[in-house]
Amino acid sequence: MNAMPENRIEKITNLLVTGGCGFMGSNFIRYLLNESDYTGRIVNLDKLTYAGNYENLIDIESKFPEKYTFIKGDICDEKLLHKIFKDFNINSVCHFAAESHVDRSIADPDEFINTNIFGTYQLLKASKDYLRDLTLFHHVSTDEVYGSLGSEGYFTEDTPYKPNSPYSASKASSDHIVRAFYKTFNVPVTISNSSNNYGPYQFPEKLIPLTILNAMEVKEIPIYGKGENVRDWLYVDDNSKAIWLIIKKGSIGESYNIGGNAEYRNIKISHLICDLLYELKVPKANNKNRKNLIKFVKDRPGHDDRYAIDYSKLQDSLGWEPEESFNSGILKTIHWYLNNKEWIEAVKSGEYRRWIDQQYQFSSA
Ligand code: NAD
Ligand code: TYD
Repeated sequence: MNAMPENRIEKITNLLVTGGCGFMGSNFIRYLLNESDYTGRIVNLDKLTYAGNYENLIDIESKFPEKYTFIKGDICDEKLLHKIFKDFNINSVCHFAAESHVDRSIADPDEFINTNIFGTYQLLKASKDYLRDLTLFHHVSTDEVYGSLGSEGYFTEDTPYKPNSPYSASKASSDHIVRAFYKTFNVPVTISNSSNNYGPYQFPEKLIPLTILNAMEVKEIPIYGKGENVRDWLYVDDNSKAIWLIIKKGSIGESYNIGGNAEYRNIKISHLICDLLYELKVPKANNKNRKNLIKFVKDRPGHDDRYAIDYSKLQDSLGWEPEESFNSGILKTIHWYLNNKEWIEAVKSGEYRRWIDQQYQFSSA
């Protein structure tokens, strides 16, 4: 491993965040502007797919008008990327934008190949063209690139890539292209491979928000197969903190695993959520525990058995470890969904996208 570089914070003044209207990107921007030591500007480039909501950061836009700019656009749009790098003097990139849901990648992989692979390549090309100004390109990736574990062991940064879904294969490809641009063209990169994130603003297609919403609305809670698959769960703020630390101080050319120290079987997650809603006396279920809503459904094809993360590299080199326990993180998350019914309704209706389409068109032409 290279020696740890100095803190780059002074050099990072105009940060391009892609996918900042999605779950992890919006939490990251909120953390950076509200809580971190970052004092520069953020340009958020987001296509506003079904998973992106402009409204996720509406408070941030009015609180930090000088520091935050939103641009609706596609990372695959080469001309637009050039315009943004030039107009905003971009000197660092944090790349979240992606198609992120495994089930959708099974139903239709096209957009996964396009955005996750070709889009990442376009961003790298633009970064290479503005290399003189560029301090860092951080690529946000997943532990799913490593494939699946048996009952023992952990993914380390040296675990060979063995992706099983079109989603994880597209992320693995993007990781390789990022590395190639570092090795071949000296684009200064870092990569993070994190485990399953959960927390506020997560689109209700992933296990945790889907379970919370369906339970709140007294609808069936689908569990694939026998519910025995294991995921490691990471509270999204812990991920934001880790990513910011890597951006500031991570070694160029290196990958870092980020994990939550919270391995659970899916069935246990759904039981925990139902138990908490019962304890919180959330109305509408006739005072019954909502566990009776759990329904075992057909398994996902190619379903990975177990993910577990060894994050000792990040811990030893940069002193990061997760602050949130799963019990405290899931409680916060449930409270957030209980208190943000308007957000839930808007996300479900898709109205935000229709409105924003008229407000923020930004094309390269
Ligand atoms: P998300 O689906 O909630 O958000 C993705 C965002 O990217 C959306 O705002 C969407 O509009 C935007 N986007 C999609 N295609 C685009 C394009 N072509 N151009 C511009 N913007 C586009 O995803 P997320 O859960 O926040 O994940 C963010 C990143 O983190 C992804 O790269 C994902 O692979 C990675 N990741 C996610 C998890 C997780 O548990 N959610 C775990 C590890 C890594
Ligand atoms: P998901 O949240 O889609 O994340 P990933 O597939 O990226 O890990 O799924 C987490 C786990 O929950 C995974 O093992 C699939 C399972 N799952 C269900 O059992 N039911 C569901 O409705 C969903 C969405 C997922």
